[in-house]
Amino acid sequence: MAGRGGRALLALCGALAACGWLLGAEAQEPGAPAAGMRRRRRLQQEDGISFEYHRYPELREALVSVWLQCTAISRIYTVGRSFEGRELLVIELSDNPGVHEPGEPEFKYIGNMHGNEAVGRELLIFLAQYLCNEYQKGNETIVNLIHNTRIHIMPSLNPDGFEKAASQPGELKDWFVGRSNAQGIDLNRNFPDLDRIVYVNEKEGGPNNHLLKNMKKIVDQNTKLAPETKAVIHWIMDIPFVLSANLHGGDLVANYPYDETRSGSAHEYSSSPDDAIFQSLARAYSSFNPAMSDPNRPPCRKNDDDSSFVDGTTNGGAWYSVPGALRNKMASLVYAGQAFTIGMQDFNYLSSNCFEITVELSCEKFPPEETLKTYWEDNKNSLISYLEQIHRGVKGFVRDLQGNPIANATISVEGIDHDVTSAKDGDYWRLLIPGNYKLTASAPGYLAITKKVAVPYSPAVGVDFELESFSERKEEEKEELMEWWKMMSETLNF
Ligand SMILES: *[C@@H]1O[C@H](CO)[C@@H](O)[C@H](O)[C@H]1NC(C)=O
Ligand SMILES: *[C@@H]1O[C@H](CO)[C@@H](O)[C@H](O)[C@H]1NC(C)=O
Ligand SMILES: [Zn+2]
Repeated sequence: MAGRGGRALLALCGALAACGWLLGAEAQEPGAPAAGMRRRRRLQQEDGISFEYHRYPELREALVSVWLQCTAISRIYTVGRSFEGRELLVIELSDNPGVHEPGEPEFKYIGNMHGNEAVGRELLIFLAQYLCNEYQKGNETIVNLIHNTRIHIMPSLNPDGFEKAASQPGELKDWFVGRSNAQGIDLNRNFPDLDRIVYVNEKEGGPNNHLLKNMKKIVDQNTKLAPETKAVIHWIMDIPFVLSANLHGGDLVANYPYDETRSGSAHEYSSSPDDAIFQSLARAYSSFNPAMSDPNRPPCRKNDDDSSFVDGTTNGGAWYSVPGALRNKMASLVYAGQAFTIGMQDFNYLSSNCFEITVELSCEKFPPEETLKTYWEDNKNSLISYLEQIHRGVKGFVRDLQGNPIANATISVEGIDHDVTSAKDGDYWRLLIPGNYKLTASAPGYLAITKKVAVPYSPAVGVDFELESFSERKEEEKEELMEWWKMMSETLNF
């Protein structure tokens, strides 16, 4: 894209006010080679996908290029800026970009939260291009996905860390350089520790979901929170996400909640109330990745303990990492009890309706550029398969008797101690494995309704709820009473 595409893009963009900011002077990195002088693309290109590392200006260009190719189904936006001022860019793919369509679930992929874990960043750039290409070709799977899902892709949550890691000379990168943000904060240990709160609530009673409710102000004012963390927290709270994955590197496994153990021990299976569906979601990723799901795969490093891995998946708490290994569970134990210590995965589940897993994509964090195409081939079907999981379980609307949406209604499932809530149009999504369930919808001021539902593997079953308000019920009761009086007085003739 540096040659032909790059110049065409600049010309096209010149005519479009909307992408002025994307390619403007601010996109130029200090010290980066000027556009015309950029290194020659020497690697394979296929269908507009350049299998190479994209530095910050190139990342912007790649996303703009997808947008220009697929303007009707895409949009680029930013959720904020990094500490050094780089945009946290998102490309959205949807048949109605920019709007939440009632009933349509929202999905997100986030990459490169650890700036030196580079594979996820590139896979997400490739994925955006792939979705656009296949949509244009009329690929039915992809067309259906884009028509029925609002897909948000953020290739990098830590663009500062990536630039630091990528600017090291040579192909061999240091194992740590660029992991944290520019302030030295490990973003995946920078979220409010809602695990501790839910573990206390499990014992003493208390809510099992939306635990951030009374802490929003604390989050905004907390100076220990990185700008990247704050931006992503607002994003999580503002959009009714249903499903998400956070892409990392340094190992090869799909990891699901909880990450923090109940007892504080370093190695303990820490199931969430949604353990069954989380296992299934993680497998939906790992099973399509031949290396990840290979039971005979040797561990990434000779001394790694992968004993908790099952079919390329692991529970976060069960995964024991040898001290010094990068995942470093110990780090969270050291901080146990402090306010801001957990990762993004558990935070999603405990603060919002979004179910998130963490995928470790590669033994190497910053592998040679030549291997990126193989990583794409190994992960393409996994990335699509995982996206499709959003259409499982039960979905529907909660409305009042007049058909008005009831936002923020609670949907609870008997036997699963984790509720989800309806979004502003009264729409809700409840991921579940196949089985028979009892779902209850409730909202303050309304009579709760329980319905039985049989859930297949997919697609999601539609179940709507019409709730009667207490005042309507009182009105009805009054009318019934009047009827009764009328009848009685007529019968008794007084
Ligand atoms: C359409 O996309 C799906 C999902 O990525 C893929 O498996 C399938 O091979 C594609 N179909 C064609 C005809 O390319
Ligand atoms: C949603 O409902 C809960 C519980 O009923 C309530 O505490 C919370 O303030 C409500 N949130 C909004 C945004 O209405
Ligand atoms: Zn990581």
